[in-house]
Amino acid sequence: MQVIEVADPAAAADLAADLIDEYSPRVLGVATGATPSPLYRVLVDRHRLAADTTVCLLDEYIGLPVGHGQRYRQIIARQLATPLGLTVVAPDVDALDLSAACGSYETALADLGGVDLQILGIGRNGHIGFNEPGTSFDSVTHVVELTSTTRADNARFFDGAASVPRHAITQGIATIRRAKRIVLIAVGDAKASAVAAMIEGSISPANPASALRDHADVVLVADREALTQRTTHRHTHSGAA
Ligand code: PGA
Repeated sequence: MQVIEVADPAAAADLAADLIDEYSPRVLGVATGATPSPLYRVLVDRHRLAADTTVCLLDEYIGLPVGHGQRYRQIIARQLATPLGLTVVAPDVDALDLSAACGSYETALADLGGVDLQILGIGRNGHIGFNEPGTSFDSVTHVVELTSTTRADNARFFDGAASVPRHAITQGIATIRRAKRIVLIAVGDAKASAVAAMIEGSISPANPASALRDHADVVLVADREALTQRTTHRHTHSGAA
């Protein structure tokens, strides 16, 4: 795993956009949340993604009405896909048979030839996508029950934690690991312990992001605050500082 330290969230967004430009993904996997939003602003400003880029969601809530502003499909449409005219592919969270919808999403990703570059954030509990601690590294797209930590963290996007959906569909850890390149962005001290565990903790389902350690092409773009609990510095070089 390559670790690139940057000065602040704006520098993280610029550097992640550079990595995307350099790679020119035809299929771009996208995460939502506070962390990647500045990156999407940069990508829209630069307008360098090819018009035939397909954008694939990492995860999506179950139970929000179609068109709800916090549906990840809506967020990605608003922040990235619509301004750039890109196609969005997402799991069908409105399907009656959600398990079949998960299988169909795996097929859709495979039919696209897989994700070329996946953008990820990381949860305070080390989750990637909605793969909470304890999720098997062999997991593919599946329905999850969100942990109280994740629902509390996401309450800021809703009218309180009670309004946060209880379930979601997420790409599994094995699905995420199939992406050819992964760019994980972590900013702020709330992520420092999860980042330290990902970089140097044990590789175990208790620590979902640790599943990325032996992936052939992962770049962690982190600001100083997110790296404060790391004890080793051997992989690091300084980015924009
Ligand atoms: P955040 O979420 O960017 O809103 O902190 C990250 C995540 O949970 O993956």
